Amino acid sequence: MKTQKEYIDIINKAVAEIPYPESPRGLYEPIAYTLDCGGKRMRPMLLLASCEACGGRIDDAVSQALGLEMFHNFTLLHDDVMDRADMRRGKPTVHRRWNESTAILSGDAMLTMAGQLMSVAPDDRLADVMALFNGTAMEIYEGQQYDMDFESRQDVTVAEYIEMIRLKTSVLLGCACEMGALMAGASDEVRKAFYRYGVALGLAFQLQDDWLDTYGDPAVFGKNIGGDILNDKKTYLLITAMNRADDESRHRIESLIGTRSDEKVAEVKSIYDRLGVADECRTLIESYLAETLRELDSIDIPADAKAFFRDYAERSITRQS
Ligand code: IPE
Ligand code: IPE
Ligand code: MG
Ligand code: MG
Ligand code: MG
Repeated sequence: MKTQKEYIDIINKAVAEIPYPESPRGLYEPIAYTLDCGGKRMRPMLLLASCEACGGRIDDAVSQALGLEMFHNFTLLHDDVMDRADMRRGKPTVHRRWNESTAILSGDAMLTMAGQLMSVAPDDRLADVMALFNGTAMEIYEGQQYDMDFESRQDVTVAEYIEMIRLKTSVLLGCACEMGALMAGASDEVRKAFYRYGVALGLAFQLQDDWLDTYGDPAVFGKNIGGDILNDKKTYLLITAMNRADDESRHRIESLIGTRSDEKVAEVKSIYDRLGVADECRTLIESYLAETLRELDSIDIPADAKAFFRDYAERSITRQS
């Protein structure tokens, strides 16, 4: 196994070598802007690491790793339009730096480029690669639709929230882990176990993202704080607050729904603080970490690979960016 940094260096090199056509610049510049802005490179890293953990060669999986990173970045361009987000990775989002039409069209091109990269696979793996990728993509769109539907619903349950984040976020991490195993020619059993590890990790990861959206440091997180509150996102924090609140706090939150102001963010946050919902969120993150580690235990891979994935999961629940 390599170190996280070594995997990330391989991915960044592949990103830097993407051959963009010269024109039209308005289509390709925002793509390079997005991919060159960094990000944690979590999905391609998991993919390359699971490939090596299963005895595969990095070179045989780099195209899929880059494809998943391209796909992930496509979802962000459209997500930032949907979430009216101004900042990502410490820079203006594409729809703010250019405009919404650019975010839509450059996003479309990224989705197609992602599909092209995914399909660079040996004949005997191609059908499985594309089925995994396309199935995952459809689930992500479903999750994103639920995420938007929930903005205008006030009766979202924790179970519905968990299913929504499984779809919009977790399945892509599951896909990354399984794809690496698939490219290495691992058994079905190992592939599925890696998928379950990635999905459990993804639940902890999205809960952490929601926590950071309220409690993070914008300079480190790279996104504006309070976006979820402004958009009436039904996060675990909000659902738990509504479940715990007395009538007065509940009415206060309800009266703020549909409004957008700094005062709204401050007031909802102070209700969260009073009700102790952040602690409850941290407890749930810990329990999904435990589930992630249980799934990892069941995977038949060498000890150094297990240590890598254990370390990665443990670090990702305390991440600040
Ligand atoms: C952002 O993903 C979208 C979510 C699923 C929360 P990341 O937090 O992995 O974004 P980057 O690529 O590191 O910027
Ligand atoms: C993102 O969820 C999920 C996808 C992009 C598919 P969020 O909307 O919470 O992600 P951020 O916070 O904008 O990165
Ligand atoms: Mg979103
Ligand atoms: Mg968003
Ligand atoms: Mg978020």
